[in-house]
Amino acid sequence: MLRRFLLYLSMAGWARALMSHFFLARRVARRFVAGETLEDALNVTRKLKSEGLLVSLDYLGESVNKAEDTAEVVDTYLSLISSIRKERLGSSVSLKLTHLGLDISEDLCINNMRALLTAAKDAEVPVTIDMESSAYTEKTIEVYRRLRDEYGFSNVGTVIQSYLYRSREDMRAFAAEGSHIRLCKGAYLESATVAFAEKADVDEQYREIVDEYIQNPASYLCIATHDEKMIQAAKVSIAKHIVPKTRFEFQMLYGIRSQRQHELSSEGFIVRVYVPFGEAWYPYFMRRLAERPANLWFFAKSLFSS
Ligand code: FDA
Repeated sequence: MLRRFLLYLSMAGWARALMSHFFLARRVARRFVAGETLEDALNVTRKLKSEGLLVSLDYLGESVNKAEDTAEVVDTYLSLISSIRKERLGSSVSLKLTHLGLDISEDLCINNMRALLTAAKDAEVPVTIDMESSAYTEKTIEVYRRLRDEYGFSNVGTVIQSYLYRSREDMRAFAAEGSHIRLCKGAYLESATVAFAEKADVDEQYREIVDEYIQNPASYLCIATHDEKMIQAAKVSIAKHIVPKTRFEFQMLYGIRSQRQHELSSEGFIVRVYVPFGEAWYPYFMRRLAERPANLWFFAKSLFSS
């Protein structure tokens, strides 16, 4: 119930306007967000790199509805890619298609993506298309396949959410195509017509997908979870199918289970931290609160102790 309410708030314009101008809320959001500027994000990236962790940088934003606003998004990503190259940070980037104009037109979005992917390819920077709510699943997969197959970009991957019923079949198709996929549980408010309502079912599908997908020698899997049970199950599958460490990586969000990130890295696994930055932190922050009600106490405590 609380999760659904917080996810509703993450989409409510009035709540966004209220919180985004609230200085203390901005400060508390810093637990999950590197900062508002590109330099903030690069500082965090440099530090994580010096500790042996890889990074995927995400310029926060979604649901852009004016074509001219997407130009600024493209420019920021181009600067980001250029910094990654110049400083040899070895980072990837993550992005949302509605930040790049998908709600306005697919052509605009594809053109923006082609500009970014061309620069990213020159700089040897991998790009992952985040997965938004189920209203965008089909379109996101279609755009991903067009960029990969029609335009020939091999540096692009996308995200699949284990809470959707359809995901098992999607992952079977992606395995056959040798895709680069990040598997997460899913962070949006979804109806029982498209997604499992019970956590146990989401977890079960997560484990089954990992076990099946990882067996395909041509595909690459990003195991994106903080859930120790999922991590242990993935390790069992990796050992059972003798999967080399070059064919998968563990991924976690910035500010969540940092110690575990370092432990996995010390065990010799590739670990990548998803580092978001930018002024549009509100929906991202609310989804993090919704994932774990205990975060609400952290939020309240931080506000009152400020
Ligand atoms: P689960 O929610 O069961 O949590 C397991 C444990 O992890 C908790 O008990 C707690 O210890 C810890 N934990 C989890 N969330 C926490 C939080 N917010 N604060 C503190 N502790 C927390 N989703 C999506 O819909 N589209 C996307 O593109 C992405 N992209 C993405 C990239 C990466 C790298 C990650 C790690 C995650 C995403 N997600 C996402 C989010 C994902 O769908 C999911 O909502 C969260 O990862 C939480 O799910 P867990 O697998 O961690 O399990």
